[in-house]
Amino acid sequence: MGFPKDFLWGGATAANQCEGAYLKAGKGLSTADVMAVGEHGVPREITDGIVEGKYYPSHNAIDHYHHFKEDIALFSEMGFKCYRMSIAWSRIFPNGDEEVPNEEGLKHYEEVFDTCLQFGIEPVVTLSHFETPLGLLKYGSWENRKVMDFYLRYCKTLFTRYKGKVKYWISFNEINVMSTKPWMAGGINTNNEQTRMTAAYHQFLASAKAVQMAHEIDSNNKVGMMYNGHVAYPNSPDPEDVQTTVDFMHKMLFYADVQCRGYYPAYKLKEFERKGIVLPIQDGDLDELIGGKVDFLSFSYYATHVIGKKTDLNFEGLNGVKTGYKNPYLSTSDWGWTIDPMGLRYLLNLLYDRYQIPLMIVENGLGAVDKVEDDGSIHDLYRINYLKEHIKEMEKAIEIDGIPVMGYTMWGPIDIIAASTGEMKKRYGFIYVDVDDNGKGTFRRIKKDSFYWYKKVIESNGENLDLLEAKEIY
Ligand code: BG6
Repeated sequence: MGFPKDFLWGGATAANQCEGAYLKAGKGLSTADVMAVGEHGVPREITDGIVEGKYYPSHNAIDHYHHFKEDIALFSEMGFKCYRMSIAWSRIFPNGDEEVPNEEGLKHYEEVFDTCLQFGIEPVVTLSHFETPLGLLKYGSWENRKVMDFYLRYCKTLFTRYKGKVKYWISFNEINVMSTKPWMAGGINTNNEQTRMTAAYHQFLASAKAVQMAHEIDSNNKVGMMYNGHVAYPNSPDPEDVQTTVDFMHKMLFYADVQCRGYYPAYKLKEFERKGIVLPIQDGDLDELIGGKVDFLSFSYYATHVIGKKTDLNFEGLNGVKTGYKNPYLSTSDWGWTIDPMGLRYLLNLLYDRYQIPLMIVENGLGAVDKVEDDGSIHDLYRINYLKEHIKEMEKAIEIDGIPVMGYTMWGPIDIIAASTGEMKKRYGFIYVDVDDNGKGTFRRIKKDSFYWYKKVIESNGENLDLLEAKEIY
């Protein structure tokens, strides 16, 4: 019992956080390429083009573009069944609006997929992970319906070219960050809610059309949505705290409601009415939304929130949610994210009760500072403990609650740059990469203790989560 036989164990990355080679082989600039490095607790700065003297972590990242064969071989050594990765849209359509794709970009990903397949690793591909070609900003990015057509041209190019090589697709990474980090979600740099909701509408429609297109091109294709797994607990049994929690969850879950049910929920339409927000609906759009419901729901899970009367539900800023509370029952990571394994089971139940479609955990992990010992070893017991407790809760959700979980791709199996701050020292990986916050280092890959542990986890299909004995390392 426990995990199903075909459970997809693996890891997940995003192109702009690992590839580097930001102008190689015809690639154009993306919204990620103009985000300068931040620092601990300070988000990255969005600059107007590339400003001399500033450091942009996506430009070199960990140079996965040149190291992908070595990196995928390491994933295979751990026994990965799948690799969730993203395609940089601007490698395929450098400005986003070209009629003809960039062959060099297409060839690159073909090689990546072939490498995965040689190792028996199933690619799970995110079409848009926190990067939009910068060239689409002149159209107003996702606020403009035209951008949807460019996205669909990009999708068609990929679905056709990689038919038979890729069958799992994800239309947009964490689509709900349009409410918290709209620049990342789709090149939108404003607090204006009408703009954000227009952009989200175009992404919903684009995703629904992409789902249908993927099925037409290959009936084996499965397209999922990706939800930033916000979970909120009420601060107290005070009904006001409870209602605020419901309101908070509505702000996030409405994205999943639209993509999984195919229509906007009544609570959101009422909110739009009150605020005077108008959706740019055209004839036939609503049928497209319903016809393009996703095949599965994938989500990231890192932390949980406490919500109550003090919580600011306006989400006005670009830096996410201010909840006003701390959870006294949970510890936090060095970056202040709560560590809450049971919350994962809670979220799996919440999502499955609501949508009744297969779920996939496509991000989960601990960002921590790692120390390389004099002998080159890295003892990351904290990471092993974090993952172990989360995997246990996932197993309970499968075994006790009967939830169909397709797979688990831990976030950042190899150290990559942090999306929020651009730091390298916030490391998630089983594999250490010798690069610092300024992009300096040898780029050498080193296996951490957790590498050997995850190998055992996969080998035993999640049954053996025990810590390693010293002799098992190396
Ligand atoms: C998710 C994103 O929100 O969180 C990833 O999809 C990101 O791209 C991850 O890397 C962890 O966040 P951070 O800022 O620690 O990299």
